[in-house]
Amino acid sequence: MAKTKRGIFITFEGTEGSGKSTLISHLRQGLEKAGKKVVSTREPGGNPVSEKIRETVLNFPMNAWTELLLYEAARSENLAQFVLPALSEGKIVLCDRFTDSSLAYQGYARGLPWKKVTLLNELATQGLIPDLTVFLDIDPEVGLRRAQDGNRFEEEGVKFQEKVRRGFLRARRENPKRWLTLKIHHQTPEQLTKTVLKEVVRRFRVVTP
Ligand code: TYD
Repeated sequence: MAKTKRGIFITFEGTEGSGKSTLISHLRQGLEKAGKKVVSTREPGGNPVSEKIRETVLNFPMNAWTELLLYEAARSENLAQFVLPALSEGKIVLCDRFTDSSLAYQGYARGLPWKKVTLLNELATQGLIPDLTVFLDIDPEVGLRRAQDGNRFEEEGVKFQEKVRRGFLRARRENPKRWLTLKIHHQTPEQLTKTVLKEVVRRFRVVTP
Protein backbone atom coordinates (compact mmCIF):
# COMPACT_ATOMS: atom_id res chain seq x y z
CA MET A 1 0.00 0.00 0.00
CA ALA A 2 1.21 3.47 -0.88
CA LYS A 3 0.68 5.19 2.48
CA THR A 4 0.54 4.06 6.06
CA LYS A 5 -3.07 3.49 6.94
CA ARG A 6 -4.19 4.56 10.40
CA GLY A 7 -7.91 5.21 9.97
CA ILE A 8 -10.83 2.86 9.39
CA PHE A 9 -12.24 2.16 5.97
CA ILE A 10 -15.92 1.19 5.81
CA THR A 11 -17.70 0.49 2.53
CA PHE A 12 -21.44 0.20 1.82
CA GLU A 13 -22.85 -2.10 -0.82
CA GLY A 14 -26.26 -3.11 -2.09
CA THR A 15 -28.56 -3.23 -5.09
CA GLU A 16 -30.45 -0.13 -6.25
CA GLY A 17 -32.70 1.59 -3.71
CA SER A 18 -31.25 -0.14 -0.67
CA GLY A 19 -30.82 3.11 1.28
CA LYS A 20 -27.03 3.32 1.46
CA SER A 21 -26.72 7.08 1.23
CA THR A 22 -29.27 7.75 4.01
CA LEU A 23 -27.52 5.25 6.27
CA ILE A 24 -24.13 6.80 5.52
CA SER A 25 -25.26 10.30 6.45
CA HIS A 26 -26.86 9.09 9.72
CA LEU A 27 -23.82 7.05 10.59
CA ARG A 28 -21.52 9.94 9.89
CA GLN A 29 -23.50 12.13 12.29
CA GLY A 30 -23.48 9.39 14.94
CA LEU A 31 -19.72 8.93 14.73
CA GLU A 32 -19.08 12.68 14.72
CA LYS A 33 -21.22 13.06 17.84
CA ALA A 34 -18.88 10.55 19.46
CA GLY A 35 -15.97 12.84 18.59
CA LYS A 36 -14.62 10.92 15.60
CA LYS A 37 -13.18 12.47 12.47
CA VAL A 38 -15.29 11.09 9.65
CA VAL A 39 -15.39 11.73 5.92
CA SER A 40 -17.60 10.16 3.30
CA THR A 41 -17.38 9.67 -0.43
CA ARG A 42 -19.08 7.76 -3.20
CA GLU A 43 -18.16 5.67 -6.21
CA PRO A 44 -18.00 6.45 -8.97
CA GLY A 45 -17.20 10.06 -8.07
CA GLY A 46 -15.83 12.10 -5.20
CA ASN A 47 -13.46 14.40 -7.15
CA PRO A 48 -13.63 16.26 -10.49
CA VAL A 49 -11.97 13.52 -12.58
CA SER A 50 -14.06 10.70 -11.12
CA GLU A 51 -17.27 12.76 -11.34
CA LYS A 52 -16.61 13.25 -15.07
CA ILE A 53 -16.14 9.51 -15.45
CA ARG A 54 -19.38 9.02 -13.51
CA GLU A 55 -21.33 11.14 -15.99
CA THR A 56 -20.01 9.01 -18.83
CA VAL A 57 -20.40 5.58 -17.32
CA LEU A 58 -23.91 6.18 -15.99
CA ASN A 59 -25.30 7.74 -19.13
CA PHE A 60 -23.85 5.96 -22.16
CA PRO A 61 -24.29 2.30 -23.11
CA MET A 62 -20.87 0.66 -23.62
CA ASN A 63 -19.24 -2.74 -23.63
CA ALA A 64 -18.73 -4.42 -20.28
CA TRP A 65 -14.91 -4.12 -20.31
CA THR A 66 -15.04 -0.37 -20.97
CA GLU A 67 -17.57 -0.09 -18.18
CA LEU A 68 -15.31 -1.98 -15.77
CA LEU A 69 -12.22 0.03 -16.72
CA LEU A 70 -14.05 3.32 -16.22
CA TYR A 71 -15.20 2.27 -12.75
CA GLU A 72 -11.64 1.22 -11.93
CA ALA A 73 -10.22 4.50 -13.24
CA ALA A 74 -12.69 6.52 -11.15
CA ARG A 75 -11.77 4.35 -8.14
CA SER A 76 -8.04 4.76 -8.62
CA GLU A 77 -8.33 8.55 -8.74
CA ASN A 78 -10.63 8.84 -5.72
CA LEU A 79 -8.38 6.51 -3.78
CA ALA A 80 -5.24 8.51 -4.47
CA GLN A 81 -6.84 11.93 -4.01
CA PHE A 82 -9.19 11.31 -1.13
CA VAL A 83 -9.39 7.89 0.53
CA LEU A 84 -5.71 7.15 1.18
CA PRO A 85 -4.86 10.66 2.45
CA ALA A 86 -7.87 10.59 4.82
CA LEU A 87 -6.92 7.15 6.13
CA SER A 88 -3.33 8.19 6.66
CA GLU A 89 -4.65 11.12 8.76
CA GLY A 90 -6.47 8.60 10.96
CA LYS A 91 -9.99 9.40 9.79
CA ILE A 92 -12.92 7.05 9.44
CA VAL A 93 -13.75 6.89 5.74
CA LEU A 94 -17.28 5.88 4.69
CA CYS A 95 -17.49 4.93 1.03
CA ASP A 96 -20.75 4.43 -0.89
CA ARG A 97 -19.83 1.42 -3.09
CA PHE A 98 -16.33 0.05 -3.72
CA THR A 99 -14.66 -3.01 -5.26
CA ASP A 100 -17.49 -5.41 -4.40
CA SER A 101 -19.78 -3.42 -6.73
CA SER A 102 -17.43 -4.16 -9.63
CA LEU A 103 -17.49 -7.86 -8.73
CA ALA A 104 -21.29 -7.92 -8.43
CA TYR A 105 -22.20 -5.71 -11.42
CA GLN A 106 -19.42 -6.18 -13.98
CA GLY A 107 -18.25 -9.61 -12.79
CA TYR A 108 -21.35 -11.55 -11.82
CA ALA A 109 -24.19 -9.66 -13.54
CA ARG A 110 -22.37 -8.70 -16.77
CA GLY A 111 -20.44 -11.98 -16.80
CA LEU A 112 -16.84 -10.74 -16.90
CA PRO A 113 -14.32 -13.21 -15.44
CA TRP A 114 -14.36 -12.90 -11.66
CA LYS A 115 -10.58 -13.30 -11.34
CA LYS A 116 -9.85 -10.55 -13.82
CA VAL A 117 -12.22 -8.17 -12.05
CA THR A 118 -10.48 -9.05 -8.78
CA LEU A 119 -7.10 -8.29 -10.34
CA LEU A 120 -8.23 -4.93 -11.70
CA ASN A 121 -9.72 -4.12 -8.30
CA GLU A 122 -6.34 -4.80 -6.71
CA LEU A 123 -4.57 -2.57 -9.21
CA ALA A 124 -7.01 0.32 -8.80
CA THR A 125 -6.94 0.19 -5.00
CA GLN A 126 -3.21 -0.38 -4.53
CA GLY A 127 -4.31 -3.42 -2.53
CA LEU A 128 -6.51 -1.53 -0.06
CA ILE A 129 -9.20 -3.79 1.41
CA PRO A 130 -12.12 -2.40 3.46
CA ASP A 131 -12.02 -3.02 7.22
CA LEU A 132 -15.77 -3.51 7.15
CA THR A 133 -18.31 -3.84 4.35
CA VAL A 134 -21.92 -3.11 5.24
CA PHE A 135 -24.25 -4.91 2.85
CA LEU A 136 -27.83 -3.60 2.67
CA ASP A 137 -29.67 -6.67 1.51
CA ILE A 138 -33.03 -5.58 0.13
CA ASP A 139 -35.48 -7.52 -2.05
CA PRO A 140 -34.38 -6.22 -5.50
CA GLU A 141 -37.97 -5.61 -6.58
CA VAL A 142 -38.72 -3.47 -3.52
CA GLY A 143 -35.41 -1.65 -4.02
CA LEU A 144 -36.16 -0.84 -7.64
CA ARG A 145 -39.50 0.67 -6.61
CA ARG A 146 -37.67 2.86 -4.08
CA ALA A 147 -34.80 3.86 -6.37
CA GLN A 148 -35.09 7.30 -7.89
CA ASP A 149 -31.92 7.92 -9.91
CA GLY A 150 -33.23 6.43 -13.14
CA ASN A 151 -29.69 5.40 -14.12
CA ARG A 152 -29.19 2.81 -16.83
CA PHE A 153 -28.57 0.00 -14.32
CA GLU A 154 -32.02 0.54 -12.83
CA GLU A 155 -33.52 0.45 -16.31
CA GLU A 156 -32.18 -3.09 -16.80
CA GLY A 157 -34.90 -4.27 -14.45
CA VAL A 158 -35.42 -6.68 -11.62
CA LYS A 159 -33.73 -9.76 -13.21
CA PHE A 160 -30.49 -7.81 -13.50
CA GLN A 161 -30.76 -6.61 -9.90
CA GLU A 162 -31.32 -10.18 -8.74
CA LYS A 163 -28.09 -11.18 -10.48
CA VAL A 164 -26.28 -8.27 -8.86
CA ARG A 165 -27.54 -9.43 -5.47
CA ARG A 166 -26.22 -12.95 -6.11
CA GLY A 167 -22.91 -11.35 -7.10
CA PHE A 168 -22.69 -9.63 -3.72
CA LEU A 169 -23.45 -12.94 -2.00
CA ARG A 170 -20.60 -14.55 -3.93
CA ALA A 171 -18.20 -11.76 -2.94
CA ARG A 172 -19.31 -12.14 0.68
CA ARG A 173 -18.56 -15.88 0.59
CA GLU A 174 -14.93 -15.10 -0.27
CA ASN A 175 -14.39 -13.13 2.91
CA PRO A 176 -17.42 -13.38 5.23
CA LYS A 177 -15.69 -11.82 8.24
CA ARG A 178 -15.32 -8.49 6.49
CA TRP A 179 -19.09 -8.25 5.90
CA LEU A 180 -21.99 -7.06 8.03
CA THR A 181 -25.28 -7.91 6.34
CA LEU A 182 -28.38 -5.87 7.14
CA LYS A 183 -31.57 -7.52 5.91
CA ILE A 184 -33.71 -4.55 4.94
CA HIS A 185 -37.40 -4.76 5.85
CA HIS A 186 -39.10 -1.78 7.45
CA GLN A 187 -36.38 -0.56 9.78
CA THR A 188 -35.92 3.17 10.19
CA PRO A 189 -32.54 4.71 9.30
CA GLU A 190 -32.05 5.28 13.05
CA GLN A 191 -32.48 1.57 13.79
CA LEU A 192 -30.05 0.59 11.03
CA THR A 193 -27.55 3.21 12.20
CA LYS A 194 -27.70 1.83 15.76
CA THR A 195 -26.90 -1.68 14.48
CA VAL A 196 -23.92 -0.49 12.45
CA LEU A 197 -22.60 1.71 15.27
CA LYS A 198 -22.73 -1.28 17.62
CA GLU A 199 -20.72 -3.31 15.14
CA VAL A 200 -18.18 -0.52 14.68
CA VAL A 201 -17.72 -0.33 18.46
CA ARG A 202 -17.39 -4.10 18.70
CA ARG A 203 -14.85 -4.39 15.91
CA PHE A 204 -12.77 -1.28 16.29
CA ARG A 205 -13.49 -0.11 19.85
CA VAL A 206 -13.85 3.44 18.62
CA VAL A 207 -16.97 4.87 20.25
CA THR A 208 -19.31 4.46 23.15
CA PRO A 209 -22.78 5.16 21.78
P1 TYD B 1 -25.60 5.59 -8.18
O1 TYD B 1 -26.59 6.56 -8.72
O2 TYD B 1 -24.57 6.12 -7.25
O3 TYD B 1 -26.39 4.37 -7.59
P2 TYD B 1 -26.61 3.93 -6.10
O4 TYD B 1 -27.30 5.09 -5.44
O5 TYD B 1 -27.45 2.70 -6.22
O6 TYD B 1 -25.24 3.63 -5.55
O7 TYD B 1 -24.91 4.92 -9.43
C1 TYD B 1 -23.89 4.07 -9.34
C2 TYD B 1 -24.21 2.93 -10.28
O8 TYD B 1 -22.99 2.36 -10.74
C3 TYD B 1 -25.00 1.83 -9.60
O9 TYD B 1 -26.03 1.43 -10.46
C4 TYD B 1 -24.01 0.72 -9.47
C5 TYD B 1 -23.02 0.96 -10.57
N1 TYD B 1 -21.64 0.49 -10.27
C6 TYD B 1 -21.10 -0.54 -11.01
O10 TYD B 1 -21.77 -1.10 -11.89
N2 TYD B 1 -19.81 -0.94 -10.77
C7 TYD B 1 -19.04 -0.34 -9.83
O11 TYD B 1 -17.86 -0.72 -9.63
C8 TYD B 1 -19.60 0.74 -9.07
C9 TYD B 1 -18.77 1.43 -8.02
C10 TYD B 1 -20.92 1.12 -9.32
